[in-house]
Amino acid sequence: MKEAADYIYDQAKKHTEWFSESLPMIASENIISPMARDLMLSELQDKYAEGPPGDRYYEGNIYVDNIELKVQELAKELFGVDYADVRPISGTNANQAVLMALGGPDKSITSVDVSDGAHISSAKFGSVGLRGMEPKTYPFDVEEMNIDLEGTKELLREEEPDIALFGRSVFMFPPPLEELRDVFEEVGCHVWYDAAHVLGLIAAGKFQQPMENGVEVMTGSTHKTLPGPQRGIILSNPRDEQMEESLFFGMFPGVVSNHHLHSMAALGVALAEHQKFGEEYADQIIKNAQALGQSLHERGINVLCEHKGFTRSHTLAIDVQDQGGGETLVEAMEDANIIANKNLMPWDNVDSANEPSGIRLGSQALTRLGMKDRHMDEVAEFIKRIIIDDENPEKVKQDVIEFRKDFQKVKFCFHDDFKAHQHYSILD
Ligand SMILES: Cc1ncc(COP(=O)(O)O)c(C=O)c1O
Repeated sequence: MKEAADYIYDQAKKHTEWFSESLPMIASENIISPMARDLMLSELQDKYAEGPPGDRYYEGNIYVDNIELKVQELAKELFGVDYADVRPISGTNANQAVLMALGGPDKSITSVDVSDGAHISSAKFGSVGLRGMEPKTYPFDVEEMNIDLEGTKELLREEEPDIALFGRSVFMFPPPLEELRDVFEEVGCHVWYDAAHVLGLIAAGKFQQPMENGVEVMTGSTHKTLPGPQRGIILSNPRDEQMEESLFFGMFPGVVSNHHLHSMAALGVALAEHQKFGEEYADQIIKNAQALGQSLHERGINVLCEHKGFTRSHTLAIDVQDQGGGETLVEAMEDANIIANKNLMPWDNVDSANEPSGIRLGSQALTRLGMKDRHMDEVAEFIKRIIIDDENPEKVKQDVIEFRKDFQKVKFCFHDDFKAHQHYSILD
């Protein structure tokens, strides 16, 4: 059995080594800071804490309580909200808690369609369906890569949903919340914003501010543009005490028992670091994504929404159906150490999820490694050599490895002289 354990240990080391020589471009991933990573190894991993701080069902939580209260405080400060729940162990888990609190088989919900970029948790075959609901989806404007304003107004007036959900996993442009605000008030629905992808940009004031535009509850992953541990968060200005209570109990006993205390502590560090470095980081993420969009476009790659500057977030969507499709090309890119994911485009059928015509790219991890807009041209050239030139990935890979040598440290954190990818071990 030791052999099996050694094998797993070795594979994890190999992964780290591989990623230190790669371009991490999956829009939902990031690199945590050394201080946050340290806490992921802490003793807190071994503990249970159910119930609110100060009133736990288990003893031994004196320091855990202090941590949870501080993380809550940091989250409230960073997002300017009255209520912050830092217990969700992922973005999906946060969404499940909100659905537990506000949804149910007798409730109705509107949402973005999965093929228009929404996450599976908001679909009938995901968490929304698990709660016995089937979303009515907003009409979508493919040219603008955003929901259609007039059609959405019409749908909301017609359906009068209990919950109107906004949020996407291919999230280049903000939905028109301000323009919909009157309709939200008219309908009286809970407005819920899934900020999984853009949480770090919102926190830094570099994307739309949902809580100032009629949104009552915002959920998110804490490991995408917010460069924290794999976890989730619920932020809200609840309309009344009952809503606050529902959100609180939606989480526990609703959808989680213990909430993984080591990563909660790491999240606190990430929130504090984002307060200090977030503005500069988010600004650079967006600049890098726009520069990358331009450089890819100039090389003949079909980056969506040229007329809108490609993106206002960290994400780019490229249509590669004429070059072989998303599936084939991301595999070739992986062989060249460029890590990205295939993605549905709005015109793809959801049934073709495994062979979609697009690729999604994110700039947040490259930015975390210290890359600036001026480096995006080189990144675009690597991608073009695979997608357009059909060059041998092995040759491109050697050049990617060489390029990555200059970007080995993790930036925008309290300890920026540490390697971004290193197997830190208590055994070695
Ligand atoms: C819009 C959206 N919501 C929720 C999630 C789920 O987050 P997690 O992977 O943290 O469960 C994602 C994940 O990418 C997402 O894109």
